[in-house]
Amino acid sequence: MLQLSSGLRVLALLSTTINFSYALPQPSQPHRLAKDGLQLPRLDKRVATQDYVAYAVAGIDQMQTWYNAATGLWSNAWWNSANALTMLADFQDCFPSMVNPITSQVFPTTLAKAPAFDGYTGFLNGFYDDELWWVLAWIKVYDVTGDTTYLDTASSIFEDAKNAWGTSPCGGLWWDKAHTGVGAVENELYLTAAAKLANRKPSSPSDGYYYDEAIKAYDWFYGSGLINSENLINNGIVLSTCKNDGNLVFTYNQGIILSGLAELAWASGNNSYNDLANTLALAGIDHLTNSEGILTEPCEATGCDGDEQQFKGVFGRNIQFLYSRATNLPAATAATYKNFLQVNANAIWDDDQANNQLGLDWSGGTAGMATIQTQSSALDVIVGAACVS
Ligand SMILES: *[C@@H]1O[C@H](CO)[C@@H](O)[C@H](O)[C@H]1NC(C)=O
Repeated sequence: MLQLSSGLRVLALLSTTINFSYALPQPSQPHRLAKDGLQLPRLDKRVATQDYVAYAVAGIDQMQTWYNAATGLWSNAWWNSANALTMLADFQDCFPSMVNPITSQVFPTTLAKAPAFDGYTGFLNGFYDDELWWVLAWIKVYDVTGDTTYLDTASSIFEDAKNAWGTSPCGGLWWDKAHTGVGAVENELYLTAAAKLANRKPSSPSDGYYYDEAIKAYDWFYGSGLINSENLINNGIVLSTCKNDGNLVFTYNQGIILSGLAELAWASGNNSYNDLANTLALAGIDHLTNSEGILTEPCEATGCDGDEQQFKGVFGRNIQFLYSRATNLPAATAATYKNFLQVNANAIWDDDQANNQLGLDWSGGTAGMATIQTQSSALDVIVGAACVS
């Protein structure tokens, strides 16, 4: 497992609550549909929204018992804490009053304490994917607070990967500073971070500084062959041939790139990036769910490690992003995304929750067996369902 060896650190929003301080496109039309997807009984929207918000609040309260204010991390898990932070900011985006008392403490505490964790400096360690998760987290925190300190933190971390881009024999970004691999995760993260920075810092430090990186990263990724014939993304490329290794498919690789492509469509005005995002998202929903529509990580059959336990939430979070923010989203695709989030959130809460602890296997069997990874990952989907319902 090239990128998962042991020791791997490896908005139809409630629009009244949204107040972006910069000029990101708002959803052109809230995706209000006459009919939800087929798998769910008709839901009373008002009741459903309140339920998902209540589940999110309960799950977050549980998650906070694992927050360490001395390190600014949850269970001292490194890249996973960047994802927990992103989930909190996503919830704040949709329901600020429900989470402000927590995030008003957590955002500044994590910014102050986490950068030097484990001897690191400025959120930099040996892994470009880890660094870029923090870039995405701080961009999202900036989005919901408007505080440019967070955005500047994100762009500062990004420089480390930017300086390394293109130095592998296959181009793109190395996964790690030991140069053991090149693959999907770090290159999707790079594209997404660059596209988001392009929309928030279009002319700083110079015109198109981040936009050019995003286009470069897209061209490399699209040309890499990492997207296979089923529109699923394999995790690695073979360094001797620079070709798709045809090996592992992970849910997060199907998710990370989605918001990057949607933001690249905003930045460029070119809708083909949205088309690719929907193709990849729908392929993930088709191929990586069980017969009940429940998202399933391939490792669940044999046991997922602490990294893999994080992955599914990343996909769900990005489905919510497309539903809420992507331009030109076809109504039927929007309905599929909404249904996906609701079906999975319902399964998590009904079948895989005990004492507000959320497990790995959302169709049941791991209720109450929570880690910070399974908890924050499941919360991504519950927050997503709350935001779209
Ligand atoms: C839109 O982007 C795609 C992918 O990069 C490219 O092939 C196409 O030429 C672009 N279209 C326009 C009108 O620029």
